[in-house]
This record gives sequence, structure tokens and C-alpha cells, in this order.
Amino acid sequence: MASQHHTKLLAIALVLCVALSFARPTQGRVPFACDPRNGLTRGFKFCNTNVPIHVRVQDLIARLTLPEKIRLVVNNAIAVPRLGIQGYEWWSEALHGVSNVGPGTKFGGAFPGATMFPQVITTAASFNQSLWRQIGRVVSDEARAMYNGGQAGLTYWSPNVNIFRDPRWGRGQETPGEDPTLAAKYAASYVQGLQGDGAGNRLKVAACCKHYTAYDLDNWNGVDRFHFNAKVSKQDLEDTYDVPFKACVLEGQVASVMCSYNQVNGKPTCADPDLLRNTIRGQWGLNGYIVSDCDSVGVFYDNQHYTRTPEEAAAEAIKAGLDLDCGPFLAIHTDAAIRKGLISENDLNLALANLITVQMRLGMFDGEPSAQPYGNLGPRDVCTPAHQQLALQAARESIVLLQNKRNSLPLSPARIRTVGVIGPNSDATVTMIGNYAGVACGYTSPLQGIARYVKTSHQVGCRNVACRGNELFGAAETVAKQVDATVLVMGLDQSIEAETRDRLGLLLPGLQQELVARVARAARGPVILVIMSGGPVDVTFAVNDPKISAILWVGYPGQAGGTAIADVIFGQTNPGGRLPMTWYPEKYLTKVPMTIMDMRPNSATGYPGRTYRFYKGPVVFPFGHGLSYSRFSQSLAIAPKEVSVSVPLATLQALTNSTLSSEAVRVSHANCDDTLEMEFHVDVKNEGSMDGTHTLLVFSKPPPGKWSQIKQLVNFQKTHVPAGSKQRLKVGVHVCKHLSVVDQFGIRRIPSGEHELHIGDLKHSISVQTVQQIKN
Ligand SMILES: *[C@@H]1O[C@H](CO)[C@@H](O)[C@H](O)[C@H]1NC(C)=O
Ligand SMILES: *[C@@H]1O[C@H](CO)[C@@H](O)[C@H](O)[C@H]1NC(C)=O
Repeated sequence: MASQHHTKLLAIALVLCVALSFARPTQGRVPFACDPRNGLTRGFKFCNTNVPIHVRVQDLIARLTLPEKIRLVVNNAIAVPRLGIQGYEWWSEALHGVSNVGPGTKFGGAFPGATMFPQVITTAASFNQSLWRQIGRVVSDEARAMYNGGQAGLTYWSPNVNIFRDPRWGRGQETPGEDPTLAAKYAASYVQGLQGDGAGNRLKVAACCKHYTAYDLDNWNGVDRFHFNAKVSKQDLEDTYDVPFKACVLEGQVASVMCSYNQVNGKPTCADPDLLRNTIRGQWGLNGYIVSDCDSVGVFYDNQHYTRTPEEAAAEAIKAGLDLDCGPFLAIHTDAAIRKGLISENDLNLALANLITVQMRLGMFDGEPSAQPYGNLGPRDVCTPAHQQLALQAARESIVLLQNKRNSLPLSPARIRTVGVIGPNSDATVTMIGNYAGVACGYTSPLQGIARYVKTSHQVGCRNVACRGNELFGAAETVAKQVDATVLVMGLDQSIEAETRDRLGLLLPGLQQELVARVARAARGPVILVIMSGGPVDVTFAVNDPKISAILWVGYPGQAGGTAIADVIFGQTNPGGRLPMTWYPEKYLTKVPMTIMDMRPNSATGYPGRTYRFYKGPVVFPFGHGLSYSRFSQSLAIAPKEVSVSVPLATLQALTNSTLSSEAVRVSHANCDDTLEMEFHVDVKNEGSMDGTHTLLVFSKPPPGKWSQIKQLVNFQKTHVPAGSKQRLKVGVHVCKHLSVVDQFGIRRIPSGEHELHIGDLKHSISVQTVQQIKN
């Protein structure tokens, strides 16, 4: 009786609940699993939030049939209605704002757009870790809101943390640049922002660091990423390519890593147990899942012919440690792989456990989304004024002042009343958000931004960035003759650099250079050249042109880019961005095939090496370059001069016997505790008349000898300094982490002797000694 009564009540409650859920058009998501309104699921242990996650995961796996399991290890995972589980699309993207590049996210209805931050290469130029974290927080707020509304997933395959190794790479724009330390800090900060600091194991959204590893060629000179075999030395892997991924897993605690399309030393990364099972999961201890790039398992079978049969390809991937296939390959071929005994059902269970654990940490098995943390986020939490303000701040902090002859910038709106705004990117909107973007809340183009300060006169000069004809040059010259100042917004867009599209050269495309030169010659007032691009551009012609007063690099500055550009031009913002990559001259390319992965130069072949760490030749602008409207001076207030590394006696004896290693003790042998963290106090004074921000870059340089490294960024700090005042910065340098170098076998060692630190423009020497460990 009682139970009958209970059932009746429950039925009413159920109807009410269903009615309520239909009455909330914005909270359109049906629970993914464990729907409290579904009587069936209440008895399942995997739905019981009081049970530890690993027990719930095993309970669910035990209930799944083999065919179900096989259809759950692909991005469009099937529904399992008999267990009350919905289908799930694992593929969403959020590189610099919620994106609709993956099928898991759709704009429209209550979510017409999302906040589009500057492209990553741009934001990297801010050198501001709290900004990167803050952007991650905002993006994941918007992502959760869209998930609650049924329009997005919770698993985001961002960020891209591959090293920007070659300036031609079409996807360099997506990365935080060429330096491992910068990329590592970006990766950890953005991932922490996205995933939230939820209690214990919980995830706000699941981020993914991609593409592991040594993937940074898309399509160059007949070689594409689907066929590329990256030949990488142990040394380069350890001190360059793997660095951001390691930080992403260890410091960022990322919930996923994606393996890449290319091969590394003859093996597809997604089929290499050494990379996936041993390194990512074994050594670094990934708590999460490993996903393939989209169709990359199919690619190593179909394009690379790495295995004889498709079942072997499926088996190799799973045995290597892959948990999820983006694409249908595993759904199609895993069954045959198991029937042929190439893998067992238990191998599949291990993959499923990694996947379901992440879904449980996201709360997907906890019933009603609205009853969970972040369940209150909805349409009103997307494109908020505060979020859009952060997009503007990010653009302002990231713009790099490359050159400022005769201090021609900032322009004074009191004296400059009319500005000619010229160039194919002068009224850019979508171009400003680069690739892997979504639909922006709205845009302010450079033309609109400048028009807020002064009267403008507009001419595109070239119909598009390819700039194949000069028929519009005359009109642009006419404008330049009439106005008080001219701003040329030139550069690139996705038609020149993109996924699957590497550049052939580094110069401005087509006739752009000619347009700039002609307009500059015709101009009456100062000429400001603004380069909008992801990759570096060889603008030597403009550096040398006395008529060009100033050059700005604005990256792809995001939805508010035009406001930020104008704020910098008119001095509302004092620029403080620094280049996250070397700007090479075009000539550099003649000796650098894109297919050569070596970071270090090779004197036998004339190969000059890559990035500021190894390349000694001429540059247009160096890594870390960036001017300000103020002048900053620095002095060292506290700076340790020597440090001792203690090692056990046995190791020390072995060292004394071998000349090679006596110069450099292995980091793994040293006692790497806090006593090896040195603190430097640096006073930064703003000598100018404008408040500004100063970025202190700290590089280390190993003792002279066989170490090929020129120098290595080890830390950075950014500070705001009001005009005329002084700030003290404290920077930590850890001997094991920051003064070590990697030998040719991939082993990290601390060379003894005199190390040099470059702290801004100051040089400071530290003596490192190896001593016997004192037992206590
Ligand atoms: C770095 O970013 C944070 C967060 O957005 C911001 O509050 C701070 O002012 C920035 N730091 C500097 C020195 O500009
Ligand atoms: C170092 O060399 C000395 C003699 O040259 C030898 O007696 C000693 O055993 C060696 N020590 C180690 C740890 O190999």
C-alpha cells in the first residue's frame, strides 16, 4: 500500500519534473546519465555519488557488453539506453574562446556567440600567467553555460602547446611560441584556468594538451602531416618538444593529451607505447585519457601503411595506450582485433576506465546538471561585459611595439585630427580571431577603434591580404597625402597561414610591401605600420624606410582588437607585449628545410639551428623584443653569487673518475631540494613620464664548453610601474630546473662552473659547485 502510494507520488513528481524541464528552454540539457527521473538507474552503483569514482567506473564497465564498449571509445560515443546513458560527442574546442570547430559545440538560440579572446600566439606576448589563467576561467564559465544549455560538450581539445619551431608553420598562431619555458607556463596556466580548482578530483571542463609530439609541420614542399616522419634526437625531445606537455600533465594536471598525426623516428605517435604508455602515463602520471588526432589511427593505416591490416592498426593504438579515437576507425576494427587475439577485452576496459573516470570527474554521472557545481551558469553568463572587457585587456597587454622612431607614437588626438586608415586588414573582424575560434559576441575593427579618437579616412589599398593588384594604390596614396597621420593595417589571415597551410616565405604577401612603401612616400604625417599575423613577418623594408615612423605587431588580437590597437596608438594604453618568437629574415629559410627538426646548428651542413636558444645569425626582431612609451631601468638588489649542489659520495667518486660527467652532475643524482632555489631581487624603475608595465625576462647561460645552448629563458615576471616610481621584483631560479642542460642522450645535467644569468639587460654570474652530501 505504502509502496503504491509512493509510486503514485513518484509518477506525479516525474510528470512535474518533465514539465519543469520543458519549461526551461535555456536549461535544455537532459542529464547525460543517472537521470533521477529515470527509475531504472537509481539502483545502479555507478550512479551513486557516495561511492568512490574508481568503484563506480568498474561497476559501469562490468555492465557493458563488448559491442557497447567498442562504440564508446570513439568521439561520437553511442547511447546505452538500457543503462540510461546518452550519446556523447567528445570533440569540442576552446583554444581562445568556446569554438564550434568540433562537432560537440553549436552556436545559435540562447547562445548566439561567445567571448573571442586574442589568438594564443598573441596572448603569449603578454607574458602574464594570471591573465592566461583568468582567460581559462572565463572560457570554461562560458563552456559550462553552453553545456547546461545543451549546446556544448565538457571535453575540450585545447590548448595546442607544440613548440613554434619553424616560422612558416600555419598553426604557429595557435601556440604560445618558440620557447619551452614560456609554452610550459602557458600550458599549465591555461589548463588550470579551464579545469578549475574544484575540490579534489573534480573538473570544471576537461582540457587536452595537443599534439604529442614534435608535430609542427602541416604541408610544406610536398610533405604533409599525414606522411611526415619527424626525426627527433633524444636531446631535442627532452629539452624542447616534450617540455610543454610534461608541464601540462605535471603542473597543469591536464585531463587529456592528444597524440599527433606524424611519426616520430619512424613510429606513428598514436601507436608508440614508449611515448604514450611509458612517458605520458608512466613517467608523468597522466590522470586522464589519451585521444588520437582526428582520424590519426586511420591515417597511420591508410596513409602511412604502418600495419598490414586495419585490425593490427586498432590493436597497436590500444596497446600503445590510446583510450579514445577521434574518428570511426576503432569502432569499425576493434572487434576483429579482439577476435584475432591481437588485444583482449581487458585492454579495452583499461581505455574505458580512463574515459569514464574523466566523465565522472566532470559530474556527468551525477544526474541533473542544474543541481551540480556550475549548474547555475546559463546564457546570461556568456559574453558578459566583464568577459568582453577581459578580451580587450588581453589584446592591450599583448600588443608589441616593435619600433618607434623619434618617439612618434603615441599620437596625440589633440594635434592629429584626421587619420588615414589603410590596408587589407584595416577593417578586419573575423580575421582578428584567427583559427579554432567560434562566433564572437561582436567586433571592434581597427577602423572602428581609431574612429573613436579621430576623424578617419579609409582605403583598403589591396582587396585582400594576397594583394595581387595595385589598382587601389592610387586612392590610398591620395588619402595619405591629405591626413595628419596614416595607419596601415597589413599582414596575413587564414588564406596565407592556417591548418594544412604552411607559408612559403616570410615577407608580406603579394604587393603589400609596395603599397606600404608608396603610401609612406606619399604621406604627409607620421606613418604607423600595424602587422596583423600569427607567424613572424620579415618587415626589414619597413625598419629601413625612414618614412615609416613606428611598427606594431598585434597578432590576431581577438574580438576587441580594434579598440586595443587604437588605445595603443593614441597612448591610452602603454604597450608592454614581448615577442614570443624570433622574427627571422627571409634569407634564413634558404638553409632551413621545414622537415629538419634539429634545434641545434650543424656546421657541416651550414644548417643554422632554430630559435633564439640556438640560432646565432641575423634577425629582424629577437625573441622577447618589445618597446614601451616609458623607459625602465633595472638594478640587482639581492643576487646570490654561488651555490653548492650536493650529491651522494658514491656518485661523487664516479664523477671524479669520468671527465665527461665531472663537468655536469645528473639532476637525478643531485639533492634537488628547496635550498637550491635562489632568490633574486630586482628593482625596476620607470624613468619615463607614462605609467607602464615591464616584463623582466630571466635567461640562463651554461658555462662555456660543449653546451650548444646560447641561453635559455628560465623565468619571467611582469609588473606595473607608475611613472617615476620603483618596484622590487622577486624572481626564483632553481639550480636543478633552471641551470641544468640536456646532454645528447636526453639526460638532464647540472654543469659545474660559472653560469651566467641575463636579467633584463643585466648580467650576473653564479658559481655552481658539486660537493659531497652530508649525511645526518
Ligand atoms: C596580468 O593579468 C591579470 C589578470 O587579468 C591582471 O589583473 C594584471 O594586471 C596583469 N598584470 C600586469 C602587470 O599587467
Ligand atoms: C675511481 O678510480 C679509482 C682509481 O683510478 C678507483 O680506485 C675507484 O674505484 C674508482 N671509483 C669508482 C666509483 O669507479
